[in-house]
Formats: sequence, structure tokens, C-alpha cells
Amino acid sequence: MKNILVTGGLGYIGSHTVVALQNAGFNVYIIDDLSNSQLEVWEKITGITGVQPTYYNIDLKDFNAVSVFFQSHPIDGIIHFAAYKAVGESVEKPLMYYRNNLMGLMNMLEAMEENQVDNFIFSSSCTVYGQADSMPINEATPLKRPESPYGNTKKMGEEIIEDFVSATDKKAIALRYFNPVGAHDSAAIGEVPNGIPNNLIPYVTQTAMGIRESLGVFGNDYETRDGTAVRDYIDVNDLADAHVKAIQRLLDSKNKSNLEFFNLGSGTGSTVLEIVDAFEKANNLKINYEIKPRRAGDIVQAYADYSFAKSQLNWEPITSLETSMQTAWKFQQQLDNK
Ligand code: WQD
Repeated sequence: MKNILVTGGLGYIGSHTVVALQNAGFNVYIIDDLSNSQLEVWEKITGITGVQPTYYNIDLKDFNAVSVFFQSHPIDGIIHFAAYKAVGESVEKPLMYYRNNLMGLMNMLEAMEENQVDNFIFSSSCTVYGQADSMPINEATPLKRPESPYGNTKKMGEEIIEDFVSATDKKAIALRYFNPVGAHDSAAIGEVPNGIPNNLIPYVTQTAMGIRESLGVFGNDYETRDGTAVRDYIDVNDLADAHVKAIQRLLDSKNKSNLEFFNLGSGTGSTVLEIVDAFEKANNLKINYEIKPRRAGDIVQAYADYSFAKSQLNWEPITSLETSMQTAWKFQQQLDNK
């Protein structure tokens, strides 16, 4: 049985990936410092799969603690989610983001070298493309300086990994997510925002719950179908499946180069108002919303060409937007029934 370390494994995408890895027969270790996750997710994962992953609360900026972990656990591959990810907060506190996200990454890479770990999956983001010039976005699309320090930690992270694999002959894959949505169909795990949600769907579900008065739609004067911005909303369970396929690709040495990039999106762009409409129809309810000014740093549109992941990972999104809207709502209701 192969041992996979998932950093940030109690987080939103991380927890869904741990479930998918366990269901695929991997032995999973989780490291998570609970800075943006809850300890109860550990038992939720165990409840879904029937297998309790080994969990450690370790700050990845503490290299000694990271080393101690690797010295006592043989690891065949790492899936690295652990990072701060709030775009707005990163603008206010850039050094906190650079220190946490890049130091954590570099400690992981150094531990790989020290402990003969060869396979690394990096949680990246479509934000590295900035506002791409043409749609859909493929992996050959030129990168631009991301609008936020958060996005820049993803772009710099990819560059650090590129230099690392060149120097060490290790193997890595960077998965560039578009906009993750939805929840596990058990409603046991899902997206739990810290405080006021930055992202659209948790704000929508909290508005539907009555926790928020109404949804602010950030701008309706963009050059799009209905004036609101376009994004590619990809179900978190499909994202989890892609991580299992990506780590298996490296374990089987099927990779074509030491660092590969894959865009993970649904391939469909939806405007904010189309998402509101989809959520309302999928859950048979109405959402209060009001048009607000544009949000600083937002791009107009982004949606993925995932054909490279389809051909090389044998992956494609199979979850409908309607289902994602239903599982997101079901999870929100479960959250608030605690
Ligand atoms: C989506 C759309 C908003 C909230 C960021 C990161 C990305 C990824 C996901 C981190 C935009 C609009 C939002 C609201 C709104 N990583 N919106 N009202 O900005 O596309 O991507 O988060 O998790 O790397 O860049 O996602 O969900 O914040 O916004 O109108 O209350 O919804 O303007 O058009 P974004 P988002």
C-alpha cells in the first residue's frame, strides 16, 4: 500500500482528496495546522471511508518538526495543499502570505530531498494566468503577474518547484484549479469559510441560510453576457479525482517531464448571475442579491481548456453544476444544524 502525505488535508479540497485517496487504496497521512480548517473534519473523513487517516498538527514553517515526521514515516508521494488562500487578506498582509506559503513549500521540497521522496503534487490556481487574452485557457497560455500576493505565491511556487526538479530529478505536477465548488454527497465535508466568505458559493449558501442579508454581486458592467464576471466552477469531488490520477501518474512514472501543469476546470464559463440562477433552480429557493461596485483585482473572465488533463490523466469533470449547487446547499444546512 503506497503512503501519501496530504498537507492541508483537513481543508476543503484537501479533505475531499483524502477521501478519494483512501477509496483508491492509498494509506494517507495528514499534516494540517488548523489555521483554516477544523479538527472535526478528521473524524468526518473517517466516518465517510471507515478508515482513520494518521493526522499530525504541524506548522510546515517549522523544518525540524517536518523532518521528524519524515524520519518516522516512509512517504511515496506528497500532495501539498497547505497554504493561506484569502485573496483580500493577502493584499493586506503580503509578507505573512509569502512567508507561510513559500516557506512551507520549500520545507516540503527540502524534506523530499532529505528523505528520498520522489513525487510531488502542487495545489496551484488559474490565478497564475491573470486575465488571459483568449478563452478557453490552456496550459500554454502565457502567465501574467497575478493580481494578489496570494496568486503570486502560486506562481512563485511553481517557479521554485521548476528549479527544484531540475536540480534534483524529482517529479512534480502542478494542478491549476479554476473555481472549486460543491461538497461530498454525504454532506459531512465541504467548504467552511473563515468569517465572512470571500468566495461566491459560500456567500450564496449563507445568504440562502439567512446568515447574510443579501449577496453583493460585484459589478454588472463587464463585457459579458449579462454584465457580471465569468468563472469556471469545478466540482470539488472531480478535483479530488484528478489528484488521485495525478499522483498515480507520478508513481507509475508516466509523466512526460519532471514538471507538468494541468488546468482543472469544467470547461464552461458561468456568470455570477447564472450561478445565482443555477443555485435557485437546483434548490428551489430565491437568493436576495444587489449589484455592488466591481471588486478590486477581479478579472472579467476565465474558463478552462482541460483537454491536456483529459488526454494525459484520463480525467474529466463528471459532476453537473446543478449537483454542485445541491451538495453545497446540503452541506451548508448540515453545518448550521450542529
Ligand atoms: C467568483 C466571482 C467575484 C463573492 C479566487 C482565487 C482563486 C481560487 C478561488 C482560492 C467573481 C464574484 C464573489 C461575492 C461576487 N482560490 N463574487 N460576490 O476571485 O474567481 O477566485 O478564489 O480559493 O485562486 O483567485 O473566486 O469566488 O471570490 O469570485 O459577486 O460575494 O464571484 O467578483 O466574479 P475568484 P470568488
